[in-house]
Amino acid sequence: MSTDLADAKHIPVLLEEVLAYLQVKEGGVYVDCTVGAGGHCYRIAEKVGSQGRVIGIDRDQEAIEVARKRLSRFLDRVELVRADFRDLRVVLDDKGVSKVDGFLFDLGVSSLQLDNAGRGFSYMHSGPLDMRMDQRLSVTAYDLVNQLPEDELARIIELYGEERWAKRIARQIALRRNRATIATTKDLVDIIKEAIPARARRRGPHPAKRTFQALRIAVNQELDAIPLGLQVAVRYLALGGRICVISFHSLEDRIVKRYFQELSRGAAVEPLPGLKMRMVTKKAIRPQELEAKVNPRARSARLRVIEKVEGF
Ligand SMILES: C[S@@+](CC[C@H](N)C(=O)[O-])C[C@H]1O[C@@H](n2cnc3c(N)ncnc32)[C@H](O)[C@@H]1O
Repeated sequence: MSTDLADAKHIPVLLEEVLAYLQVKEGGVYVDCTVGAGGHCYRIAEKVGSQGRVIGIDRDQEAIEVARKRLSRFLDRVELVRADFRDLRVVLDDKGVSKVDGFLFDLGVSSLQLDNAGRGFSYMHSGPLDMRMDQRLSVTAYDLVNQLPEDELARIIELYGEERWAKRIARQIALRRNRATIATTKDLVDIIKEAIPARARRRGPHPAKRTFQALRIAVNQELDAIPLGLQVAVRYLALGGRICVISFHSLEDRIVKRYFQELSRGAAVEPLPGLKMRMVTKKAIRPQELEAKVNPRARSARLRVIEKVEGF
């Protein structure tokens, strides 16, 4: 890994809010399911003290390496595991953890991933069309863009990108790949720009933002992982323990909100006997103006928190 990458900055989002809602206590057990560059984890590790335990999970090997470096002074209490949080149960069982005082899910991509052109996540830097968080995955964005049938591409871009021009973008991709394979993020950005009418491109975010989000979600099957991870977290949560989830777009937030609502109504799909959960945040917590100003990534962040009040 280059020194640049190891020194790359990812500013943790809603950091003070997460610490306050998690109510990190000395000697507690916490699981950061998306450790990334270790920003949130660092502060949690500080607060649990030397008698505490923090498990940091990420599916990206580079993130694990950066986090290991950043958290080097806390390796007496922090264990880092490369895994997908959809396999949270396996991770916790392997570590012999049966009760957890708090879970954090800070969903989506990190600045480390976005800013490294070679990972292919960014429409701002040209790189290979990759977008895999876990580089052991076999399907990349290149495969989807060059091989999926046009109507399937349109469906993904519309569903996961909430992109109103999805059909036009898929059409343009299909036309262009007939001539030559679409190899780079820049190639794709140019195609998207051609597909979206000029007047629509003048307003709102970057024209490629939604399509890139859609492909990233599809490559990493991001949305499926959320309920799977959350269900396990509820099961392993100690009484009085909390689950904090930060999401960055409406698709993620909708899944979290609905699941938390079901849990707090006692209507979750797989209820546990005697389980009672309390929604701590009635409305999602948004970043303060200052945070949104200094960290543009924070602008779309929403934090939701739930607590186990009864159960085993
Ligand atoms: C927004 S970043 C987390 C940043 C971190 N909280 C920090 O302060 O540095 C999200 C991280 O979650 C990881 N991730 C996303 N989905 C995951 C999943 N299903 N399982 C494990 N890690 C995941 C990504 O690889 C990325 O490193």
